Amino acid sequence: MSNSPLRILFVASEVEGFSKSGGLADVARALPLALKASGHDVRVLTPLYASVPREGLQMRLPQLGVPMGFGEVWCAVQETRLPQSEVPIFFLEHEHFFGRKGYYDEQGWAYPDNAQRFAFLSKAALQLCRALSWTPDVVHCHDWHTALLPYYLKTQAPDLDRTVSVLTLHNAGYQGHFPGALQQVLEVRPEHFHDWAFEDHGSLNLLKGGLTFADRVNAVSPGYAQELQSPPGSHGLHEAILRKQAAFSGILNGCDYGEWNPEQDPHLPANFSAERLAGKLVCKQALQRHFGLPERPEVPVFGLVSRLTEQKGFGMLLPALEEILQWDLQVIAMGSGDSETATRLAQTAQAFPERMGWWEGYSNSLAHQVEAGSDVFLMPSLYEPCGLNQIYSLRYGTLPLVRAVGGLRDTVENYDEASGGGTGFVFFDPTPAALRNTVGWALSTWYDRPKHFQGMISRAMDKRFLWEDAARSYESLYREALNS
Ligand code: ADP
Ligand code: GLC
Repeated sequence: MSNSPLRILFVASEVEGFSKSGGLADVARALPLALKASGHDVRVLTPLYASVPREGLQMRLPQLGVPMGFGEVWCAVQETRLPQSEVPIFFLEHEHFFGRKGYYDEQGWAYPDNAQRFAFLSKAALQLCRALSWTPDVVHCHDWHTALLPYYLKTQAPDLDRTVSVLTLHNAGYQGHFPGALQQVLEVRPEHFHDWAFEDHGSLNLLKGGLTFADRVNAVSPGYAQELQSPPGSHGLHEAILRKQAAFSGILNGCDYGEWNPEQDPHLPANFSAERLAGKLVCKQALQRHFGLPERPEVPVFGLVSRLTEQKGFGMLLPALEEILQWDLQVIAMGSGDSETATRLAQTAQAFPERMGWWEGYSNSLAHQVEAGSDVFLMPSLYEPCGLNQIYSLRYGTLPLVRAVGGLRDTVENYDEASGGGTGFVFFDPTPAALRNTVGWALSTWYDRPKHFQGMISRAMDKRFLWEDAARSYESLYREALNS
């Protein structure tokens, strides 16, 4: 078995190209592609949300019965391929559970039956394998949404007893907390409704239970894996993680350089490379124009593309912003999520029309343009399991300004004023003052040490975080689980 190709079922709540709210979707597309390129038989399962484009889908299983704790649920399975690949992706079709506007919520309100919806996805994964007569070596689950799958595999699938499970933690800030009364509905046995498994202060914690039963668990960066083992950075999970320590590790995400490549990016008004940076200036000018800001090449643009949540550091940024905007710089921000944060960003942009541009919404194309046209990329996260945006910005010669947490500290090297080394600007304290001072530091580097700034741009653009490397680490993890 040591080098033979593996059969791997990927089960994720979002997959880029079909559904996406954040980086999980990027990973759920890129990692299967990288594993396939290494010769493995990878297949992906995800829900058929209302917004998933229907073209190219073919009916694979018109009727699949899924036994749930609340009765049998009938669904269908549609199939296509991940774009430009031979990787099959299956869509679980169930109008009531998934034919909704949102993936997890609408206007900030979580769907009240999320536990049932995603338990159903987990259970259906097992039924799909049976219906296809395809026994995976590994089921690879992601976050709380599919955390019940390792449990169902261990407790309800004696026919799949050679299949192992891997659970990847992309964001342990979301754990899938549900009322303890749902135990029966979710088929969590009474003996597993205990603190060492699913029970969490009287309620059900799907992520905690799932990581207890998975054969291997990993976080999406070594830095985050370390933080998850002690109270301040573990979102309350450190005890469960420490119990799992022997089977727990960190694997850094990669970057899809096919999609994020300034030399060939179709979303940009001009392309550029480390050797030919002229196009970056064209992108900057177009971005300033797009956001209605003065087209001043000599002023640095600080860009931000983000989900609007506390995780991303708005608690530090918002109080610091007015002071930052007194300086000769521009801030260009886009994002969607929390409406109060959006309102405050909009109000600040209105108060500083010459210095700040703001757009509320979700646009992949504009995200590429902000990455390309900015000089510094703001990512002051409170916590960051890996972070992909700072990796994209490195490739685009847009120096990340980050807090030293999780994957941010694994991917960004702090500027060294003495030598001019580094690829970005790093701060430590989670305070508006630390963020503001670091913006000031980046600004003085831009104006007073332009050679250092240029050197950092070339170094940043040369950095690579490859999915091939990550896929190799995942393959070792899979084999470890299979051999244990
Ligand atoms: P997270 O998954 O925590 O949101 P990541 O940095 O890992 O953070 O990934 C975010 C992904 O979502 C990136 O691909 C980024 O470009 C994209 N993204 C976030 N917000 C937006 C937005 N408003 N419009 C377009 N893309 C966005
Ligand atoms: C989550 C994390 C982010 C990570 C992404 C992909 O959304 O917040 O840091 O990059 O998952 O693993």
